[in-house]
Amino acid sequence: MNTLTQSSLWAGLEKEAQTMQSTTLCELFSQNPERFSQCHMQAAGLTFDYSKQHITPKILDLLLALARERGVAEQIEQLFAGGMVNGTEQRAAHHVALRAPDRMGCAEAQHTFARFADFVEQVHSGDVCGSDGALITDVINIGIGGSDLGPLLVCDALAGVNESRVNVHFVSYLDAKRLQQLLATLNPATTLAIIASKSFTTTETLSNAMLVKSWLADVKQCVAITSKPQSAEQFGIPTQQIFPMWDWVGGRYSVWSAVGLSIALKFGMQTFNEFLDGAHELDQHFQTAEFSDNMPIIHGMLSIWQQNFLGSQTQAVVPYSHALARFPDYLQQMQMESLGKRVTQHGEPVAVDTGAIVWGGVGTNSQHSFHQLLMQGTQPICVDFILPLQPGDEQDPIYQQLIANCFGQAQTLLSGYCAADIEHDLTQKNYSQDDIKRLTPHKIIPGNNASTMLLMRELSARTLGALIALYEHKVFVQSVIWGINAFDQWGVERGKQLAQVITQDITNKALTSNYDSSTEGLLQMAFTFLEDPLKVS
Ligand code: F6P
Repeated sequence: MNTLTQSSLWAGLEKEAQTMQSTTLCELFSQNPERFSQCHMQAAGLTFDYSKQHITPKILDLLLALARERGVAEQIEQLFAGGMVNGTEQRAAHHVALRAPDRMGCAEAQHTFARFADFVEQVHSGDVCGSDGALITDVINIGIGGSDLGPLLVCDALAGVNESRVNVHFVSYLDAKRLQQLLATLNPATTLAIIASKSFTTTETLSNAMLVKSWLADVKQCVAITSKPQSAEQFGIPTQQIFPMWDWVGGRYSVWSAVGLSIALKFGMQTFNEFLDGAHELDQHFQTAEFSDNMPIIHGMLSIWQQNFLGSQTQAVVPYSHALARFPDYLQQMQMESLGKRVTQHGEPVAVDTGAIVWGGVGTNSQHSFHQLLMQGTQPICVDFILPLQPGDEQDPIYQQLIANCFGQAQTLLSGYCAADIEHDLTQKNYSQDDIKRLTPHKIIPGNNASTMLLMRELSARTLGALIALYEHKVFVQSVIWGINAFDQWGVERGKQLAQVITQDITNKALTSNYDSSTEGLLQMAFTFLEDPLKVS
């Protein structure tokens, strides 16, 4: 295969990007009244409208041809067949098997899933209980990164519907005081701790787990989820209370594994199964739909187009649903840990920019914060709007306002606010000619900003599963185009090692490494602080 930028398709896209500079989104809409109907698609309860992207049929054809040329179809096959898509770690990334009804025939996953379902049932029935037979009322999920963000997102998003009596609390940070504050609100006799750590080496998780384990009435109230069962046993967790993970499930793709235990304990197995089913439905769509009708492929290729050809280096994600407030955080790990890579699977430098910065927040709050920059800032930023429909709330005027705000923002990004309209509006409001002249430049919104709109049929376990799977696959498509490994994360390892060295030095109040003068100076201040906090001014 030729290198990415040597492809004639790449050159063709560069040419189209040049041409696109003299065409606006508004012109694209007025040239084609069928644009919306031609540029939206549906799958697994999601409607994806990409008509507000700088895209023409020719550009889409080129992008999809590039996807074919870069081997996206073959890589999808590899992904689903459990092939070694994670080259540097010599592993599969077979999380899709976990959400298939028969776990794709994987015996260890089937066995774990059956144990998992049994355990959930036993906690709910009281067969697994706290001290003196007390019912479990609270669960603390102790984990970080992928062992925290997925369950946290799902528990938040589905809160209030079909909840069991079990309340779930999440602890990820290194802050013993906050953890103690949480523990002070809980009863050790009725609390279950889940220690979720694929590696079982993550210091934040182990420190917090140690504290919670010693607070609990009985170690029987601790379960571990890990791919290193021996480490969990050494930590004191009885073998029968350990749920395995496998090296073929990446941390940030692990919400479908036993890491989802807190979700199942909070909402029950039926909801958890629906969550898996929604993701599986999207998986099937990804595997079988034609490229031109394939939501994750189009979503991924639009991100390539935005970033590599139109210069969008950041991507905003704005859910118009408070229940999805955690989604931008979740996506940050999924996208930036997966795509923040500078060399290809073969160790050669990537010729183009990879992983865009993902950020965002919940609408309408975001309108009163960063939308000013979206509307009038100087950088091109592509926005993914996400709007769950809320059956039952269709007549609720407050919900109607929410819809209106979401669509209004996307429309303003597209069409802007031009000088003529501003002058007209200010004249109507009896502004003087001087004031109109003075204010108009400040009020102009150039528009022509790209966005996509994802409507969810409703926010349910099923559609949430589909939404997460959509983004997982979109990320995978981008990684294939760039030729990078979406499933390793070497960049975070070095910082963890250094933190251990520095922790030792802080404990011993001695510098053992050759630090730069900044780190050394800061460490000296830390030593002073440790001796006497008042000495640090
Ligand atoms: O931050 C790096 C990372 O390795 C993530 O990939 C992972 O989700 C997180 O740390 C937690 O790791 P573990 O589950 O092994 O504790």
